[in-house]
Amino acid sequence: MAEPRPRVWVSQPLYPDIEARLDAWFDVTRTSQVTDHAPDAIAAALAEADGALVTLNDRIGAAEVANALRLRAVANVGVGYNNLDVAALAARGIVATNTPGVLTETTADFGFALMMAAARRITEAEHWLREGRWQGWGFHQLLGADIHGSTLGILGMGRIGQGIARRARGFDMRVLYHNRSRLPEAIERDCAATWVERDALFADADHLVLVLPYTAANHHIVDAAALARMKPTATLTSIARGGLIDEDALADALQAGRLAAAGLDVFEGEPVVNPRLLDCRNVVLTPHIASASLPTRRAMVSLAVDNLIAAMGFGPDAGRPPSVVTAPMAT
Ligand code: DGY
Repeated sequence: MAEPRPRVWVSQPLYPDIEARLDAWFDVTRTSQVTDHAPDAIAAALAEADGALVTLNDRIGAAEVANALRLRAVANVGVGYNNLDVAALAARGIVATNTPGVLTETTADFGFALMMAAARRITEAEHWLREGRWQGWGFHQLLGADIHGSTLGILGMGRIGQGIARRARGFDMRVLYHNRSRLPEAIERDCAATWVERDALFADADHLVLVLPYTAANHHIVDAAALARMKPTATLTSIARGGLIDEDALADALQAGRLAAAGLDVFEGEPVVNPRLLDCRNVVLTPHIASASLPTRRAMVSLAVDNLIAAMGFGPDAGRPPSVVTAPMAT
């Protein structure tokens, strides 16, 4: 009798033509509509699966894999993977993968656009106009901050941070960055970026952009003290993860005029947005769409599918998934 094929669970509807590649190797259980899976439902699905393709809405930790005795691989559709407890997965011998690289340029485009929208008060101006408040051209109306010639601060100089730095060249910006470790000189030169201490980054940036991965260690890295270091004329933009910012402290700073404006694509309680931020007129709020272009979302799914096939030991990269986050712990 033929060996039964491994079973794969796909947690959300993605792109059928790309997902279909899984059918060559696995028996696939699909999810027909976008679903906010309860932890128990995730645990039940994983208990039956050898592999899973999940998105950042699906939180997988020790409890969800406790009965997942056959699970070998979890492929996350996303570069960020704070939805996965990688230590818990590694301890159970489960490979986790993510999708870096394919979303770099799209996400950098969006980060730059969000920073510009905050600085030039674009959504605020549109709301004002739609509310019928425009009585005529006004010399002092809706004055914003310049982008060109200003100082850009990038916290987290991975691929996306570097993409934003390269875009800044066209605007004659001075680029400062902070990373735990300094980048090789050749990359610094290519990005025309200078490493500075974190406090200096907050103090010197006219426009600060957060692009660092979220971990427990950098929870609320932007707190009241960090915000107090920023110029009152500065802007803060985040396309990383909501937990990096103390949103109440940010709302205090925006309301008190201690920070000119902010642009946020990510929120601590997503999809619920802190009501204090909703009350601030000087913040641009978008629903976690930095990587949301069709070609990029398709490329993310395609890479996640390749990762899963390889992590499960099939296809041309068998055993060598293109982007591994964590391999099983040695026992
Ligand atoms: C990611 O990939 O981590 C983004 O937040 C979603 O595209």
